[in-house]
Amino acid sequence: MKKAIRFIDLFAGLGGMRLGLERACLELNLKVECVFTSEIKPNAVRTYQENFPNSKVWGDIRIIPSEEIPDFHLLLAGFPCQAFSTAGMRQGFADTRGTLFFEVERILRDKQPDGFILENVAGLVTNNKGETLKTILHILKNLGYFVTCEVLNALDFGVPQDRKRIYIVGMRSHSLSLKDIPTSKPVPLSHILETGKPTLKSEFIDKLLSHYSMEELAGKSIKDKRGGKNNIHSWDIDLRGKTNATQKQLLNLLLKERRKKKWAKLKGIKWMDGMPLTLEEITSFFAPEHLFEFEDLRTLLDDLVAKNYLAFEHPKDEVEVLNNNNQKVKKRLARMDLPKGYNLVTGKLSFEISKILDPNEFAPTLVATDMERLAVIDGEGLRKLTIREGLKLFGFCDRYQIDLPEKKAFDLLGNTVVVSVMEKISDRLLRTKHL
Ligand SMILES: C[S@@+](CC[C@H](N)C(=O)[O-])C[C@H]1O[C@@H](n2cnc3c(N)ncnc32)[C@H](O)[C@@H]1O
Repeated sequence: MKKAIRFIDLFAGLGGMRLGLERACLELNLKVECVFTSEIKPNAVRTYQENFPNSKVWGDIRIIPSEEIPDFHLLLAGFPCQAFSTAGMRQGFADTRGTLFFEVERILRDKQPDGFILENVAGLVTNNKGETLKTILHILKNLGYFVTCEVLNALDFGVPQDRKRIYIVGMRSHSLSLKDIPTSKPVPLSHILETGKPTLKSEFIDKLLSHYSMEELAGKSIKDKRGGKNNIHSWDIDLRGKTNATQKQLLNLLLKERRKKKWAKLKGIKWMDGMPLTLEEITSFFAPEHLFEFEDLRTLLDDLVAKNYLAFEHPKDEVEVLNNNNQKVKKRLARMDLPKGYNLVTGKLSFEISKILDPNEFAPTLVATDMERLAVIDGEGLRKLTIREGLKLFGFCDRYQIDLPEKKAFDLLGNTVVVSVMEKISDRLLRTKHL
């Protein structure tokens, strides 16, 4: 049998890239061996070692000299994205020191492998007006590689997650196209959902279920910051106290009005997303005909303040202040000289769940900060995503285990490379050139 393809797994996380490459090798009956892994997050390291037994995982790649890394054919890296110094680039040279891409660059230069596969957020394409990606590609080409990059969506690879990522592939011997990689028809979320799991029980969930049917809930976000028909607000379910039809209408209107630039102009302050509006200002768009005979606008507003849907506060304006180092910094401070107004209480307020996924659609891009607050419909109830479902949303096989509490597991999953996409890219690479 041919000798094994040796690869290194940098910024390894849960090993999504590794699994994809290994799957492609298995399909093509090629031997493959991971000769070096680096990752710094203790939970990721532990999980990686549980799933890839006998792996030695090195820590911070920045302090590992290239000589310590064994020779290898392929480098895998889903490196964290950081903007490069624009000053450096303006002077006509790309200085990537201080960024984690620099570590990829260093190891490629020192070890001269046959090729690499890199992954990053799709935003890299527009980061720093496209300069960051341009710099990366320029450096990789100068290191002696034919380099191709493509933004691919996990949805096209049999995984019901709308996750676009940029993949950058380089080969020393030839140019590889990522354009026409075989894709598959998107599958809906229902394909990976489990059933009969324990559902959530709380006052918040009871209120959601008593105000809406399951069909109505599917696909809805729950937040007070924005309007739109796909959004449920705290007042729609009377979360912080009962509101009548006029108050709901008032809150929905305030949601739109308080974002308008004209209010900032009228108040003589810098615009911000959501300003308090005075009774007089509200009267200008909420005319008396909106009110029933027995209703009084001020009383309705004050009731919403008492129930904490609204705050009664001074507008904030941007001012320059000196920080501890005597540097001028911009800060938003309340303008006590301006009259108080009514403003929606949105702040950092977050609900038990942020979105109810529609089983007939796909999951949005899953990110560490929000995965834990996504809900799915299970029978007559709602529940959080399970870790198994989370793993399936990244194309992991059933054998992969994460032995961590949900929050910590999702924290790792949110940064993971989708195995199925990586498998197809690896397949393309391995078929065009055996390493
Ligand atoms: C985008 S994730 C990588 C995903 C992973 N490659 C996969 O296949 O799923 C980036 C990872 O880099 C790790 N990381 C960040 N800085 C690091 C460093 N200096 N050395 C090693 N790992 C690092 C993070 O902990 C995180 O798990």
